Amino acid sequence: MNKNSIEFVQNNRIVRIDFAESGIRPSTTVLNYVRQNPETRGTKEGCAEGDCGACTVVIGELDSNGNLVYKAVDSCVMFLPSLHGRQLITVEDLAQKSHNPDKLHPVQKSMVEEHGSQCGFCTPGFVMSQFAMFKNEVTPDRKTIVESLAGNLCRCTGYESIFRATEKTLLNITSDHFSENESDVKALLGEIHSRTKTIEITTKTQQYWLPMSLKEALTLRSKHPDAVIVSGSTDIAVRQNKMFVYADKILDISKIKEIKSISSNHEFIVIGAGTILEDVKKYAEMHIKALSEVLSHFASLQIRNMASIGGNLCNASPVGDLIPMMFALKANAVIQSIEGKRVVSFEEFIVGYRKSCLQSNELLVEIQIPNIPSNANVSFRKISTREHVDISTISLATRIEYDSNNRIKEIILAFGGMAAEPKRATKVEQLMIGKLMNNTSVEEAAGHVFEDFTPISDARSTAEYRINVAKNLIVNALLKK
Ligand SMILES: Cc1cc2nc3c(=O)[nH]c(=O)nc-3n(C[C@H](O)[C@H](O)[C@H](O)COP(=O)(O)OP(=O)(O)OC[C@H]3O[C@@H](n4cnc5c(N)ncnc54)[C@H](O)[C@@H]3O)c2cc1C
Ligand code: FES
Ligand code: FES
Repeated sequence: MNKNSIEFVQNNRIVRIDFAESGIRPSTTVLNYVRQNPETRGTKEGCAEGDCGACTVVIGELDSNGNLVYKAVDSCVMFLPSLHGRQLITVEDLAQKSHNPDKLHPVQKSMVEEHGSQCGFCTPGFVMSQFAMFKNEVTPDRKTIVESLAGNLCRCTGYESIFRATEKTLLNITSDHFSENESDVKALLGEIHSRTKTIEITTKTQQYWLPMSLKEALTLRSKHPDAVIVSGSTDIAVRQNKMFVYADKILDISKIKEIKSISSNHEFIVIGAGTILEDVKKYAEMHIKALSEVLSHFASLQIRNMASIGGNLCNASPVGDLIPMMFALKANAVIQSIEGKRVVSFEEFIVGYRKSCLQSNELLVEIQIPNIPSNANVSFRKISTREHVDISTISLATRIEYDSNNRIKEIILAFGGMAAEPKRATKVEQLMIGKLMNNTSVEEAAGHVFEDFTPISDARSTAEYRINVAKNLIVNALLKK
């Protein structure tokens, strides 16, 4: 076991943080860590909850083929141990400092030339998102650029010039000083990985475990059932930042490779619970269209580069987007403890308001999605105030299967935001069984949605609005308006 310290690469050298010696709390965010250093205060705090992107940094990491891949992430919702075995790139690292004066990176140069910066507060975040796009050689079309920058907000609203600057750099991708140093960085990351074992950090205020295998994680889970589980940390870190809830014990499962892969067999697509949502999105674009619809309106690229599918499901939030979709996909949760595995449907997995059926010694390890038969149609709709980076007010995932006479054989109408937990509109479903799909049958059945739900009025909307929108969503989804 590695004791009390993590290692990562910054500025082409290995940085080691010894938490016991330095007194730094392990769950310190990467943002607060870099801003402690007067030399790296370019990274800004706007919201401290993953919404604005002012804190964007880029993480370099080795993929399964040993290639270095770059990911924009929100440093305000990332705990320091997540940096272990990765490269941290902040805005200060972009310009080539060996030149006099500093030679700006191509992404910075384009921002200057296209007047992409006004007050400048958001600029370091935008530049880091552009840098990740540049390194990943993203296609310079407007849709891709808008989607990749959706997690960066500019109060001065200079979006047009920022888009122009992004297009300009992406049309002229060249090698940069990061390309020149890539083999050295890979070697340093390899060196860290070769000596990495489960990390156990004990400080005066917090215990933090970072296991490298599922077996170790399950053993720790059973020894420390009171430890808070962290995967992508995008929820747990917001709780810490906004409500000052500092966990005494944290079990961080984000480094366990066994729960980060996606595979398929003749029966199921199997997604490891630790898989980040951007990887799930890319896979779903090819194989599960309805799931990709959910993820294309889910948070921002920075959040999807961190948040895990398991984190979203274990949150059991009444407005979480993925749970209604799991109902419609008839997906199962594979749950494991040191004693063994059990499999439950996601309808059984959710047992109450923000409550799953997980026991204190268990982890969600996999999501099994049965292959969708060709006569089944699965889709998703989300109502939120903004198109990107917004939690649903109401969401609806649907599944419809027809018999040979074109009558509805099976129907699932799974709602988020209509009750204390994601819930199916079973009354409307019953009314649709055996019917032909037409205006009369759908309008009539949808009118009964008030019998399925008694929603509350809250900050997002009134109960009356929710019922009306739920009815309209059913009509819209079934008649594909
Ligand atoms: C800016 C922003 C935008 C967002 N937008 C959306 C959105 O559009 N739609 C939406 O649905 N949600 C949204 N979210 C919430 C989102 O659900 C979560 O942020 C994310 O999916 C949680 O994943 P994580 O890996 O970061 O979870 P963490 O914060 O690491 O953990 C979340 C919870 O799950 C538990 N947990 C995690 N993994 C496991 C496991 N394998 N086994 C057992 N327990 C586990 C943890 O103990 C914790 O209670 C947004 C959040 C932010 C900050
Ligand atoms: S400070 Fe706003 S996303 Fe991090
Ligand atoms: S330039 Fe002022 S916030 Fe973007």
